[in-house]
Amino acid sequence: EKGGFEHFMLKEIFEQPKSIRDCFRGRLIANESKLVLGGIRDYSNALINAERIVIVACGTSWHAGLVAEYIFEEFCRIPVEVEYASEFRYRNPVIREGDIVFAISQSGETADTLAAMELAKSKGAIVLGVCNVVGSSISRVSHEGVYTHAGPEIGVASTKAFTAQLTVLTMIALKTALLKGTIAEQRYREILVDLENIPAKVERALKTDDQVKKIAGIYKDARNFLYLGRGYNFPVALEGALKLKEISYIHAEGYPAAEMKHGPIALIDEEMPVVVIATRDSSYDKIVSNIQEVKARKGKVIAIVSEGDSLIPGMVDHTIEVPGTHEVLMPMVSTIPLQLLSYHIAVMRGCNVDQPRNLAKSVTVE
Ligand code: F6R
Repeated sequence: EKGGFEHFMLKEIFEQPKSIRDCFRGRLIANESKLVLGGIRDYSNALINAERIVIVACGTSWHAGLVAEYIFEEFCRIPVEVEYASEFRYRNPVIREGDIVFAISQSGETADTLAAMELAKSKGAIVLGVCNVVGSSISRVSHEGVYTHAGPEIGVASTKAFTAQLTVLTMIALKTALLKGTIAEQRYREILVDLENIPAKVERALKTDDQVKKIAGIYKDARNFLYLGRGYNFPVALEGALKLKEISYIHAEGYPAAEMKHGPIALIDEEMPVVVIATRDSSYDKIVSNIQEVKARKGKVIAIVSEGDSLIPGMVDHTIEVPGTHEVLMPMVSTIPLQLLSYHIAVMRGCNVDQPRNLAKSVTVE
């Protein structure tokens, strides 16, 4: 049932070109510049007119929410807040009638996310689910929602669910922006075409596997890792660090790269591997400076770069090239080598990759 792969996690990582395609099948019709999202038809006007969006989730799903925040604000010009469901539910948050609350969850059973939705509903919010498991509690409590259709995710570490969540959230944001008139039609069309090409780009990013495995062999005994990114790749840094901690038990932290000089830079020495997501986008020049700051302190830099980058390879210890795409879609591609890195390190350390200690696939208790 692992389809020839040694672990479910690896199978699910490699399934992503297909799971992303399954996610947009019948919804994204790029040659007609159309997005059909039947799951949120009744509330699309509410979304267009929303004064505010709140996203509640936990773990990896919360990271998908952070990417969505940037996309919604950029294209829809609606203020977005992303909240840990566990904090939101206990802090008497301000929710007004007509606010849109997105709940993101692979399992659809996460207790804190479910409770946050119930609370938001009781205050008059419209609650929209982005869920993988059909018929799950979260899908039932939502007013409406869009399934991610990534197929069953068995490895405890979330991989294909994350890229499917990004796919769904991007489609919702683009559709809303078009209806609101806050995105130029030309740009909307271009991004749809880019989105349709994401499975092929993920396929190419998966080809870095052997190279990533070699890098894993070099750093598998490190005691700490730092992950840095900016803009759309900032949540990818958080996600890379989470993947590493949960399955390899190596301490890792993700940071927006510019925050480094406000503390974490003190950790950097020749023992510290620093994974920097530095693909070509609007923060490229800034992240290049951040790489220089790490190298000046002798950190070991593993950089995820765009294919053909001729600057960064000369500055760092290792580079992993991934294909370029529109920057809002980049997390779907740049996260792939980080999933592979955590997988290989965990296997080399003899960890139980599919069922890490102390973790459950569905966190149904708070
Ligand atoms: C990380 C991971 C967890 C989940 C979190 C939310 O790899 O699996 O952090 O993302 O428990 O779970 P769902 O998405 O099922 O609500």
